[in-house]
Amino acid sequence: MMRGQEICSLVAERQDPNRFRRENWEGSFQEYLDVVRENPRVTRNAFERIYDMILSYGAETYDESRENRTHYRFFEDPLDGGLDAVYGLGLSLELLVNALKSAARGYGIEKRVLLLHGPVGSSKSTVARLLKKGLERYSISDEGALYTLGWKDDSGSVHWCPMNEEPLHLIPAEIRSQVVGQLNADRDPDDYQVKISGELDPFCRFMYGERLQKYSGDWTRVIEDVRVKRILLSEQDRVGIGTFQPKDEKNQDSTELTGDINYRKIAEFGSDSDPRAFNFDGEFNVANRGLIEFIEVLKLDVAFLYDLLGASQEHKVKPKKFAQTDIDEVIIGHTNEPEYRRLQSNDFMEALRDRTVKIDVPYVTKLSDEIKIYEKDYNGDRVKGKHSAPHTIEMAAMWAVLTRLEEPKNASLTLLQKLKLYNGKSLPGFTEENIKELREETTNEGMLGISPRYVQDKISNALVAHPSANSINPFMVLNELESGLKHHSLINSEELRGRYRELLGVVKEEYENIVKNEVQRAIAADDDALKRLCGNYIDNVKAYTQHEKVKNKFTGQYDEPDERLMRSIEEKIDIPDSRKDDFRREIMNYIGALSIDGKTFDYKTNERLYKALELKLFEDQKDTIKLTSLVSNVVDADTQAKIDVVKSRLIRDYGYDEESANDVLSFVASIFARGDTKDD
Ligand SMILES: Nc1ncnc2c1ncn2[C@@H]1O[C@H](COP(=O)(O)OP(=O)(O)OP(=O)(O)O)[C@@H](O)[C@H]1O
Ligand SMILES: [Mg+2]
Repeated sequence: MMRGQEICSLVAERQDPNRFRRENWEGSFQEYLDVVRENPRVTRNAFERIYDMILSYGAETYDESRENRTHYRFFEDPLDGGLDAVYGLGLSLELLVNALKSAARGYGIEKRVLLLHGPVGSSKSTVARLLKKGLERYSISDEGALYTLGWKDDSGSVHWCPMNEEPLHLIPAEIRSQVVGQLNADRDPDDYQVKISGELDPFCRFMYGERLQKYSGDWTRVIEDVRVKRILLSEQDRVGIGTFQPKDEKNQDSTELTGDINYRKIAEFGSDSDPRAFNFDGEFNVANRGLIEFIEVLKLDVAFLYDLLGASQEHKVKPKKFAQTDIDEVIIGHTNEPEYRRLQSNDFMEALRDRTVKIDVPYVTKLSDEIKIYEKDYNGDRVKGKHSAPHTIEMAAMWAVLTRLEEPKNASLTLLQKLKLYNGKSLPGFTEENIKELREETTNEGMLGISPRYVQDKISNALVAHPSANSINPFMVLNELESGLKHHSLINSEELRGRYRELLGVVKEEYENIVKNEVQRAIAADDDALKRLCGNYIDNVKAYTQHEKVKNKFTGQYDEPDERLMRSIEEKIDIPDSRKDDFRREIMNYIGALSIDGKTFDYKTNERLYKALELKLFEDQKDTIKLTSLVSNVVDADTQAKIDVVKSRLIRDYGYDEESANDVLSFVASIFARGDTKDD
């Protein structure tokens, strides 16, 4: 173990003094102009910066339902080990990035509020958090550097711009185009071109005016009082990143957005319209150069909403007592589906719709993505001392996704089959094109249903509700999910509750099928026995197709091919009597082709035959293993030994632990026992 001193020196070794110096760069305005000449991208506006930031993580194209799509790695949250990773939602994220891209290019989207719209718990806040974190990180990196200005006073101390604005605003309007021409001179037209837009904020304008007076209008002398420094965006330090959450509706105050008079300083400066007696610390001021997030934006009082729309359209805000002030920030709001619908009948909605870019953020509808959401929180690293039985998270996720899917119009397709198609499973008779059509026939899919948050809560409950169990199993979670429905605040009708219960039934049935299959396969996972059975089958098929007899290994005599044996295997995979000849010939051709290449046949390479053999072996062994005796609780030593073999295969091949393997064996035994009595 390290001692305190060693730990400290470890930290010291990791520090990079050069980096510290770069991040804390400070210089004169002239020196800043050199920085801009060197790297014009330091002057990018907030939209350009955020778009470049996202791209800096890389992107790849992929095909979905035959459409070309782009995946932005940024949303995997790689620098935080996937902590805030967003899964699925490829289309929404692509639309968001496209909006930022066109805003960065100045095509008009920069004048809109980006509105993330979706049901509760669809990761809207997560997306906003990712963007904020991304901007913070980017501003620390060399490629994401940005700068602001401050004013030296006679004592030598510097008063920094309260809105962290771009130092180039100091350049008077009349000579801007000339200066810009110089800054961009000799630059490749494809390179980033410096632009200057926006004027000094009231505080800097005051400082500027004061000095212009003092130096009798000599701009170069004014500039000598200016200092420039690098800024690092940080939500914690309230630099370049703001968040606004409306409190109750009567209690909203514009000062939270645009700053407030500092009453203590009025005495010092003599007037409430002196910018030095004003705190430019509203969220809009703070978020300048970066991003402002409006949580539940539609709860904002309508008067402020118009301010907000103005802020996005004009890029200006109006602090009390001061003129319109330029801002440079990305404005992102989010809203829930119910809230949005409530407002839909309101006239105000018209105005809003016109000035926002609405990006739907639905729930995930692909099972494998939904599973990832829960695995992030409930994996072995996060949940110590509790094992999750296989399929626990999968079943919870399956239910969540089912609640979000719309019934397919094609009556022969069940909801569960649709879920599987969406999840990439191929079903006979369904093409990629059909799946695309399935998606297109829906009207509001993914916008309704159960939120991941509900499922997360119930998994957490299940983890603590059974202190004596070493592992949680799907039933524990499904039962929690069911009992929670009674009190679920967002389920407003008995009908809906009933439907969600029904879907839990669908999931339980699917789970039964899955574990039945696993236990069957574990019972049949006897490689030697399978090989023997396969050899036997092939010998018979060979004789059958060549109209020969088979040598009986026991008696040494030649017998007719064993039709009963062959059929008992083929029936397991639903090969009708009329197709058996084709099937047998296919197998023989396959083996023949292999032997020409000098290869021998391995039953595992033929998926259908493999399955058929397993099922046959299972049938033969079921009775000797006497699994159903688990139900009656009297297990003799011989049976126990056989069951233990099956158990160890469940543990080895399917990820069970001792306890969950026992549970699942008893459960499947009870299903078989039920089936046996049914057969009787
Ligand atoms: N597509 C997804 N990928 C990853 N995590 C997700 C996804 N959808 C939801 N989550 C998870 O669900 C939880 C809720 O997400 P978040 O708080 O971002 O939702 P929200 O849309 O802001 O909800 P609300 O409307 O209630 O504010 C988080 O734990 C989040 O990680
Ligand atoms: Mg949220």
